Amino acid sequence: MTSAKLKTFGQQMKRRSWAEPWKIKAVEPIRMITKEQRARALQEAGYNTFLLRSADVYIDLLTDSGTSAMSDRQWAGIMLGDEAYAGSNNFYRLEQAVQDYYGYKHMVPTHQGRGAEHLLSQTVIKPGQYVPGNMYFTTTRLHQELAGGTFIDVITDQAHDPEDLHPFKGNIDLEKLGTLVEKVGAENIAYISLAGTVNMAGGQPVSMENLRELRGFCTRHGIRIFLDATRMVENAYFIQQREEGYADKTIAEILKEFCSMTDGAWMSAKKDNLVNIGGWLAVNDYELFDALRNLVVVYEGLHTYGGMAGRDMEALAIGIEEAVQDDHVRSRVGQVLYLGELLLDWEIPIVKPIGGHAIFLNARGFYPHIPQDQFPAQVLTAQLYLDSGVRGMERGNVSAGRDPKTGDHRYPALELTRLAIPRRVYTQAHMDVVAEAVKIVYDNRQQTTGLKMVYEPKDLRFFQARFEPLD
Ligand code: F0G
Repeated sequence: MTSAKLKTFGQQMKRRSWAEPWKIKAVEPIRMITKEQRARALQEAGYNTFLLRSADVYIDLLTDSGTSAMSDRQWAGIMLGDEAYAGSNNFYRLEQAVQDYYGYKHMVPTHQGRGAEHLLSQTVIKPGQYVPGNMYFTTTRLHQELAGGTFIDVITDQAHDPEDLHPFKGNIDLEKLGTLVEKVGAENIAYISLAGTVNMAGGQPVSMENLRELRGFCTRHGIRIFLDATRMVENAYFIQQREEGYADKTIAEILKEFCSMTDGAWMSAKKDNLVNIGGWLAVNDYELFDALRNLVVVYEGLHTYGGMAGRDMEALAIGIEEAVQDDHVRSRVGQVLYLGELLLDWEIPIVKPIGGHAIFLNARGFYPHIPQDQFPAQVLTAQLYLDSGVRGMERGNVSAGRDPKTGDHRYPALELTRLAIPRRVYTQAHMDVVAEAVKIVYDNRQQTTGLKMVYEPKDLRFFQARFEPLD
């Protein structure tokens, strides 16, 4: 190449993109049905995207849970399933992976995250106790309530403001926690329910510094910290990117350091851990482990499979190792950022900063004219499906449910539609299509009207509730 040509080449090369650290070996066809068909499907589903058939969905961003693509190594691992009822090889591989990468001493397998939440809540919550945490998650809080506990939100105020740019909006507000402990007494705190990242706040992370302070506080008061590690790998990525002193550490190192300051963790392995089904619960205290191991056989299965097949445990053990690789996490969160930045360029209201697993559209910003008891986020989720076959999920008033004491809607500050990105599944072109669909729905926002709820299940109503358009 001549030097002149080299120069032009050099200028072109100034733009340096990153790309996914994998190539595609198997594909699954998807198709878009017509607008009339989508309108019918939506009506039949009671305007609830949980009730749609997946065949009627074009790009499925309902959840990043159990929807990830497994690697060729994980699929090969499926063939290594040892389906012995007791003492399967795969259990020991899984136990070792949890110990190696999360650092806890003892592990109990469960069929998925809520199985682990059930066991933990029943074992460590005494009726009447309080469970402070960094914002509720639907199934987590319900299991805490079913065990007789009361969840208290002690997340930082910034988490409730979609515009606030704080880099660690998942942090616990130690003053709020201190006031609670002073009021009710440390003996009435079951444990701290700490999630990294915080799903309902928009996938926002917790800083290492915040946990260090929390650990100090809890040690002084004799309170245990249990971690919802469901998306903790993504949380570790944000620590690496945003927190002083962590830029040169690997995700694996950060993950282990974080977990070392907690007393145990529960996991929905369907997210970070890259499997379609599975979960686990891990603790350091042997006595607690023994109690959990006794309970798992009642609800999940023997303590060496906990509701998973041997092959599931093998895929999970491999997934745990793949999940903490820096290039994987960078491209996973990078794809979420790519979609979010397109929307921000077009000034569409989303939760900022962009979180780890999903884009959260701020439905209040779309529909200031729709009151919260006409479910603006449910409306937005339905509109997006209708326009483009893109399926998201409501994360607002419907998800928040009713206060068990007063029976009223909870009216959360955040009224959001979540577009969760499955891991290793969609391409950049899919993200472009999604962004353009959101833009069209935003442009048509003024003509849009509210919904009324016509069927309301008692628990976790968002899964099965049905709606009808208001006139
Ligand atoms: N904790 C968090 C933070 C979660 O996001 C979930 C599930 C669970 C616990 C429960 O785990 O589904 O395996 O029983 N979240 C899914 C979602 C459903 O779409 O966000 P599970």
